[in-house]
Amino acid sequence: MTAKKKPEELRSFGWFGPDTLRGFSHRSRMLQLGFQREDFIGKPVIAIINTWSEINPCHAHLRERAEAVKRGVWQAGGFPVEVPTITITETYMKPSPMMYRNMLAMDTEEALRSLPIDAAVLMGGCDKTTPALLMGAISANIPAIYLPAGPMLRGNWDGKILGSGTDVWKFWADRCAGVVSDEEWKGVEIGIARSPGFCMTMGTASTMTALTEAFGMTLPGASSIPAADSNHVRLAMDSGRRAVEMAWEDLKPSDIFTPAAFRNAITVDMAIGGSTNAIIHLVALARRCGLDLPLTRFDEISPNVPVLANIRPSGEYLMEDFYYAGGLRALMAEIRDLLDLNCITVNGKTIGQNLEGAVVLNRDVIRERSKPLMETGGTVILFGSLAPDGAVIKSVAADRRLWTHTGPAVVFKDFEDMEARVNNDDLEVDENSVLVLQNAGPLGAPGMPEWGLLPIPKKILKRGIRDMVRISDSRMSGTAYGTCVLHVAPESYAGGPLAFVRDGDLITLDIPNRKLDLLVPEAEMAKRRAAWVQPVEKDPRGYLALYREHVSQANQGCDFDFLQAVTTSAEKI
Ligand code: FES
Repeated sequence: MTAKKKPEELRSFGWFGPDTLRGFSHRSRMLQLGFQREDFIGKPVIAIINTWSEINPCHAHLRERAEAVKRGVWQAGGFPVEVPTITITETYMKPSPMMYRNMLAMDTEEALRSLPIDAAVLMGGCDKTTPALLMGAISANIPAIYLPAGPMLRGNWDGKILGSGTDVWKFWADRCAGVVSDEEWKGVEIGIARSPGFCMTMGTASTMTALTEAFGMTLPGASSIPAADSNHVRLAMDSGRRAVEMAWEDLKPSDIFTPAAFRNAITVDMAIGGSTNAIIHLVALARRCGLDLPLTRFDEISPNVPVLANIRPSGEYLMEDFYYAGGLRALMAEIRDLLDLNCITVNGKTIGQNLEGAVVLNRDVIRERSKPLMETGGTVILFGSLAPDGAVIKSVAADRRLWTHTGPAVVFKDFEDMEARVNNDDLEVDENSVLVLQNAGPLGAPGMPEWGLLPIPKKILKRGIRDMVRISDSRMSGTAYGTCVLHVAPESYAGGPLAFVRDGDLITLDIPNRKLDLLVPEAEMAKRRAAWVQPVEKDPRGYLALYREHVSQANQGCDFDFLQAVTTSAEKI
């Protein structure tokens, strides 16, 4: 450790050190808590940002982990303070947890900024929590280390391995088709989530924690450790110890989130077949750093990166298997030639140094470069007359048969309309139709919920069909699979072309050529545009009003305009 700071240079010393009336007040209130002066004056104060809540099963163990972090902080000569923030629980928050990502980011940033804190351990994992905590830490720019909550153990029912989300969609489709009994469905319900931790498929949670490690914001190997493993407790303690050293070293997010680190994160995202949601979050993170990250950059990187992680929903295994196979370090070592190995990480070493000695222990879980799951990156960016500002599809999770497809649109004007009609016997739909959902974007829904996995109509399911082309301006769970075009921008609520699609219009999806086109003549589109009336929002108030006023479109990261960096760097990602 290279100590850069003297005790009186610590940020917290500004609160606790001075012989002033305010200094007296700050010290006396710490004494009120039962601490000695020597516990906290001139010692790095480490905030443990805790997103624990009883309503968040993915973070159920974070209260105990906070104690392990504290143990590490005390051992290293720091002073730990646990700072609770709001929790974002993917399962329960309506209309969409995505709406609250920016709120947690603000909560984190302001907690770090306003309190006498020298460094932070950020604890989270459930989908939006990771980008939110990172966004807040970037903006506060105080030394911070991420402690991923860890994936839950494999699901198990009747001897079958179950994966979060992925197997829910699969069994639900079978249940709708009448081939799964009520009893079997209940068995899946009991067995699919059987330990603390986040979804153990390569959904958004596992993707974002992996990318956080790829950025260099976790200790090496941290993102792959299951929540229930005792190595996770030791990880918590080590993260606390390291946070104290980072405070002395003044190793800040601005040292870590460089353009090269973003390229590494995008490369790893492609190699793990990461969630489509990662694209929105990476753009938002870049903008917090004052860096431009156009969607086209993903498509420039992805052709050079094979998908190596054989994890559901794209592959076969789960995160627990990934851990036993060597975890993210082993995967990153496989693509070491595609990474910038000089990027600095939270342990003060470079990515290259952290990958030394990493080996793959199971070649079916982490594939060789010569036997990838897919030759090129798992996520594709589409542009065209239906998505002038871009759209996203997880090609690795889409049926190859539909990669190039033209079909007539079946349009639902919003989620309620879809729920009401999708299973009607008189709905004019067949397996060649393209299901379109409007008004499900950042503003339209609002909050861009994960409605992008539009249900296949029951009458089609009963014919044994399990995939169709589906298009929306919403998102899709990273645990889901199917030919679902997502994040269409501009969204329909904002007057994007998606708003003007009508039943029977022909739509072309062309994944190999990155195209998404609405085959309607421009003269007809002009007529529809002129006749279009934006849906009216009923009296938004409170956080929703703030959200509506300031949220950006999907291709811009859905951050609030006033939270992005004020100055933009000329450096390119
Ligand atoms: Fe928390 Fe899936 S519900 S990660």
